[in-house]
Order: sequence, then C-alpha cells, then structure tokens
Amino acid sequence: MEIKINPVPPEKRKVPPKDVSNIVFGTQFTNHMFMMEWDKDVGWHDARIEQYQPITLEPSAIIFHYGQEAFEGLKAYWSSNSRYVLFRPEQNFARMNRTAERMCLPKLDEKFVLDALKQLIRLDIDWIPKEEGTSLYIRPTIIATEPALGLKPSSSFLFFIILCPVGPYYPEGFNPVKIYVSEKYTRAAPGGVGEAKTSGNYAASNLAEKESKERGFTQVLWLDSVERRYVEEVGSMNIFFVINDEIVTPELVGTILPGITRNSVLQLANHWGLKVSERRISIDEVVQSIKDKSLTEIFGAGTAAVISPVGELHFQGENYQIGGGKTGPVAHRLFDELMGIQYGLVQDSFQWIEPIV
Ligand code: COI
Repeated sequence: MEIKINPVPPEKRKVPPKDVSNIVFGTQFTNHMFMMEWDKDVGWHDARIEQYQPITLEPSAIIFHYGQEAFEGLKAYWSSNSRYVLFRPEQNFARMNRTAERMCLPKLDEKFVLDALKQLIRLDIDWIPKEEGTSLYIRPTIIATEPALGLKPSSSFLFFIILCPVGPYYPEGFNPVKIYVSEKYTRAAPGGVGEAKTSGNYAASNLAEKESKERGFTQVLWLDSVERRYVEEVGSMNIFFVINDEIVTPELVGTILPGITRNSVLQLANHWGLKVSERRISIDEVVQSIKDKSLTEIFGAGTAAVISPVGELHFQGENYQIGGGKTGPVAHRLFDELMGIQYGLVQDSFQWIEPIV
C-alpha cells in the first residue's frame, strides 16, 4: 500500500521545544501523524502522513463506549554516532498484533507499519531531542470507529501513530520512586485482558493510582486478583526484586504485561551471568526478605519509565525503605547498559537497534 504524504508547509510548522526534560511526559506533539483506516471490504487503506490534528468521530463510536482498542509505546533516540534509531520496534508491533487478536481488532502488517513509522519520524526528525535521558516517544494506536451502541466488535477501525519528545516519565526523574501495594483494588484477572496493551487496563488503574498519590506514593504495585498475594506489576512498568543476589520477576501468567524492557532486562542479566528467575513471588516473601535484609533492590522496567528504582514500599500500613532509598547496583548497571545501547554508547550485542535514517 502506498503512503500518501502531505507535509505541513514549513511556515506552519511548530518548533520543537528547547528543553525537553522540563516537559510533562506526553503533552507536546510533533507536526505530523500517520493514519490509516480499516473496513471489512478493503482491509487497511488510505495510509497517509499529515498534520497532527484532532480526529472526528461520531459520539456513538464504539471506542467511546466499550473501549475496543490497542496501543503501544516505543521510543526513538538520537544516538552518539549521529544516527537516529529505534529500540526493538518489531517487538512492539508484534505485541500490538497480539493485543489486536485479544481485542477483536484487525491485525497490522508489521513490516508496513514499521516502515510507515520511519517515514513519519523522518518528517519530524528534528523533534528527536538530543539531551541526555530524552527521546521521542511513539504511540501507535488502533481504535474502533463504527457508530453503534450494541455490544459487538466494530466493523471499522482507525490506526494512527503520534510522536512526542519526552524526558523522564516520573517527576522524580531517574531517582527512586515510592510504591504503594494495593490491597483494595486489583488490575487483572485470569482469563481477562491483563497481558494485552489496551486502554481499559489503564483506565481501571486510575483510582488506585490517585489514592496512592494522595498518600504520597508515585505508583501502585498490583497483587494477583485471586489470592491477593502474588506480585504482578506496577502501574506503568514490570517489577524486579534482587533477593540473595538473584533477580526475580513475576512470571508471565496472562495477567501481566509482557514488557519489552522486561524482556531486555532478562536477556542482559542472563548474558552477564547473573542469577535470574521468572516465578511467582508473594508480597509476604518480599516483606520477609526486606526484613531479613536478603532483598537489596527493587526496580521497575518499562519503555516510558526505562529502569526505575524503588526506594520505598508501603504495605499494610508499614513503610519499608529499600536499599537505603538509593539506586542499587543492579538497577544502575541495567539503566546504564540499556541507555548506553539506545544512545549508541555501548555495543549493541543483541541487535536491538534499528536505524531510522
Ligand atoms: C510505556 O511504558 O510505554 C507505556 O505504555 C506505559 C504508559 C502508562 C506510559
């Protein structure tokens, strides 16, 4: 399929922000966006890159009522060797197709959308920020557009990609965050959509996040919805513990997002010869290991959050300080290595980097 390109005339283009690290994450967008539509007769069609602009949908569009959608998050970087690059983008489009299957959305041609993304970024290439810790965040999204209030999968869809320059995700920057273990709410149930990257999972987490923020915490740590015992993930990232020098992360049991940064962390740790295990880990084990000091670090991993150390954990009325409230050596090493690969400062032994130009 051909991609029609309608570039914004130079005199009408917005200028990229000067200091990206001060922008609130995901609030300023570039000049262009990619869009295409799907219907059952022609499949995906009308692929185009045009001005970033509001989209018009009927108020009855299925997305507004039943949340039938899939989204992704990935990043483009300016790397030290003056190249513009993406990090494992094919993984994001592969996951998007898995979400699409779960949410009854039409699948994408993964090669085609990756090429479309590169063409889009090339038009807004000067929006990839160059300061340390910054990047261009990419949000591909599929939404159900059919105007119909009867509950059923939509028969028409819109796919779009938008771009925004970003610094750190959390207001703490890359410093340790404070996490609240939710006992009152859960995120995902077995058989549900926990492993899909779809809006409802995030909408449903807002109240718990709001209440934890009111108590002074950055994010919620979710426990499983059946026994309310086993650790699952944090609001916007997967979670890792270092216990007796072993890196432990909850295994993917269908209720946890299969994070691409999570997978990269596991591959790096294995490559370094560190002990790694993906298994069920209960909150009691976490608390006990904090108490007996066998737990030395907790950190999160996600595209937006990168590697985010946890300095404090709250559970059942108690605050536990983790690793003296400071970033531990494992989180530090992983952060440096991942950022090093993304910024071209460290050898890309896993071929995770995809050039844009
Ligand atoms: C990401 O890490 O890219 C995500 O999509 C999480 C989102 C809550 C910012």
